[in-house]
Amino acid sequence: SVFYKINGINVLEKELAEKLAIKKVIVGSVGIQDEQVSLNEIGYEAAKYLSTLIEEKMIIGLTGGSSIEKVINGYKSDWVHFENQDIMVVPARGGLGNKNEYQANTLAERLANKLGAKYQMLYTQDNLSQASIEELKNEPNIKRILENITKLDVLLFGIGQASVMANRRVLEQEEIDNILGKGAVAESFGYYFNKDGEIVHEISTIGIDLDIFKKLKHVIAVAGGVEKTEAIIAISKLNPNLVLVTDELTAKKIQEVL
Ligand code: F6P
Repeated sequence: SVFYKINGINVLEKELAEKLAIKKVIVGSVGIQDEQVSLNEIGYEAAKYLSTLIEEKMIIGLTGGSSIEKVINGYKSDWVHFENQDIMVVPARGGLGNKNEYQANTLAERLANKLGAKYQMLYTQDNLSQASIEELKNEPNIKRILENITKLDVLLFGIGQASVMANRRVLEQEEIDNILGKGAVAESFGYYFNKDGEIVHEISTIGIDLDIFKKLKHVIAVAGGVEKTEAIIAISKLNPNLVLVTDELTAKKIQEVL
């Protein structure tokens, strides 16, 4: 019955949160269907959870990617319950990836529109030299966004498999081999991590630093698909406040391997 199914999911969520040593796990409740359906579902679940956190004066950061796009799709404008909408939405990092990806800038604008909030955009490229990074950081426009990024109240982010992301970003084969050779299994907000959640490579761009990420109180990871199992486990080691939103099949797979 529906009751037992929902109850079973509750148990799974609690057990998994304990095993991963994170704050909360939310498992999409449609059961095992095709990947697209379950991605939409976890997007909706993540959006609902996000809506419970949002308060006036908050700064919400997000990354790009198809999973976060589903969250924005799932967010219903009529969930907005605050009055003065003094809320800011910002991309967490500039210039990750290429135009084939769902860009954080676009998603920030879309979420802000649904919330009636303000937004800022961060236009930079990948693979900047250290000198250009330092220079950019002093540009007044960029400085203002970076200030907001260091004060994030909530971060909504996607998790990718290192190999998939390295290829999606069309890196040189040598660089891909180098990153994977260092044991990278996961990629999030511009950092590649090994299975223990240690950084093995960082994209040179500006935006959220790992130190800031590690101290955030509200961090929501949205990632589904069994192929992301190892990546999800790695990212779960970064911040015990993590809230993971995933699908049932992946949740069960994580439980199995842990
Ligand atoms: O490129 C932005 C990003 O959030 C990456 O940091 C992450 O690895 C990836 O997108 C996840 O993308 P998707 O949700 O499409 O798998």
